[in-house]
This record gives sequence, structure tokens and C-alpha cells, in this order.
Amino acid sequence: MAFKAKMERSAKKKGSNIILALDLEARSTRTLLLQSIKLLETVHPYVCAVKLNHHLILPLGLFDGVQKILKKTIAYELPTIMDCKINDIGNTNRVIAENYYNAGFDAVIANPFVGWEEGLEPVFEIAQQKKRGVILLCYMSHKASWEGYGQIVKKDDKKQLPQYVAFAQKALEWNADGVVVGATYPEKIKEVHKILNDKVPIYSPGVGTQGGVVQSTVEAGARYLIVGRTIINAPNPEKAAKQLRDTVNRVKQ
Ligand code: XMP
Repeated sequence: MAFKAKMERSAKKKGSNIILALDLEARSTRTLLLQSIKLLETVHPYVCAVKLNHHLILPLGLFDGVQKILKKTIAYELPTIMDCKINDIGNTNRVIAENYYNAGFDAVIANPFVGWEEGLEPVFEIAQQKKRGVILLCYMSHKASWEGYGQIVKKDDKKQLPQYVAFAQKALEWNADGVVVGATYPEKIKEVHKILNDKVPIYSPGVGTQGGVVQSTVEAGARYLIVGRTIINAPNPEKAAKQLRDTVNRVKQ
């Protein structure tokens, strides 16, 4: 099943549009692994997917400790996204994507700044062969995002437009499985949603700790909310995940 459909099926089955960002930190790799698995065990009923980042890949190893986490996500039927922000020349990008897909990830996040030819084309090719997903950055959630993603650029036809608008257009052109727009910028989500028209779903990190608000993020058109610290650092992560899920569902009604 293609990644976009897999996500839709999971969100429907779980009744949740929350993606857990499993961004744990610990002193030892053993503790990191145990805590990650424990968190998955308590939070899995309330989320539709899991996103991993370098927080776990670097200390645990892609074909080592991370495999134990992926075994759990498979058991819970949760699609997995690797937040590797692929951003190199095509040959290197292909190797990065191949490794993450071979390790078991369902999708990777990539940076459209590198362009298509000898940039992201090999990533989309390998994704298509393996029926996996590619999610493109469009407008990031942090404060300095405007410095790159908000720059005014010229397209081939010499028309001026903001970089994130050009990236949203590329997401359609390249048939991406999703775009990332920060929950901290609901007005950008609205603008990007108008361009994508639900053909490409919006993934939105930044709710809670970074200041994004569920209601404005969902109302602006985000399909999936990526949440890390608001769940992980909560006194009761299970309760926090459930509350987030329920708030999203209330806003969607
Ligand atoms: P928090 O703790 O802020 O974690 O809920 C958010 C997670 O999402 C990642 N992140 C992003 N990933 N584009 C991305 O691809 C973004 O704009 C973006 N903003 C945050 C962050 O690394 C963490 O894993």
C-alpha cells in the first residue's frame, strides 16, 4: 500500500491524527531504548504514526537498537517516518533513502532546496520502487524559518514568489506524499493548503512546546500534527497524547 493511503488508513483506524515524535534523550543507550519502548507501549493507542529523529538513530544505530523500536511500531501497525531532512546530491540522497527504507521506515523527510535533477529525483524513484513515502519541507516551525523558507525567489517565468509557495507547487509537481509546515505559522498552513487542495497532506510540527495551538493548526488545514515534547515531557504522557487526540477530533467536527 502506498504511504499516503497507509497514513489515511492508520488515522481512521486509530481515530487519531497525532504523530508521535519519539525524541527521547537519556544518559545510556540502554535507558534510551527502554524508555522509548515504554513510551510506545503507553502512547500507541492515541497516535496514528511515529516519527524518529537523530535523537534515536545516532545513539542506537539504524540496524541495531532502532530495529527493536521498529519491531514495536510494526506490532502496533503504526507507520514510521524518518526525519532525516535529506539535503545532498542525488547519489548520496539515494543512499540515505535506501538505508532508511531498507531499515523499515515507511517515509523520509527531504529538503526541496536541492531541487529535482541530481537532487531529490533519485529519492522519489526509490520511494516509488519500494512503495514508500517522501515528505517535503515547506515552511519549518522554528523562529528563523523565514530566513530560508520565506525568501522571495524567482521562478522560471520570472514571477516572484515566496520560497515556501514554490515548494508547495513542487510538492504537487513531484507528487510528494506530504509537506511539512510548522504549526507555529497557521497563516502559512492556510496559504499552502489553498495550493495543495488536500491533494498533498500537510504535516505540522510545533504544537505545544514550540507555541503552536491545535485549533488554529487544524482549522488552517493541517492533516497530521507531529508532537514530541508536549507528550514526552508531560507528567502523564498517555493522558497528554489522549488529550491532544481528543482536541484535534473536536476541532475537526
Ligand atoms: P516538539 O518537541 O517541538 O518536536 O513537539 C517536534 C519534532 O518535529 C521536528 N520538527 C520538524 N521537522 N520540519 C520537520 O521536518 C519542521 O519544520 C520541524 N519542526 C520541528 C523536530 O525535530 C522534532 O522532532
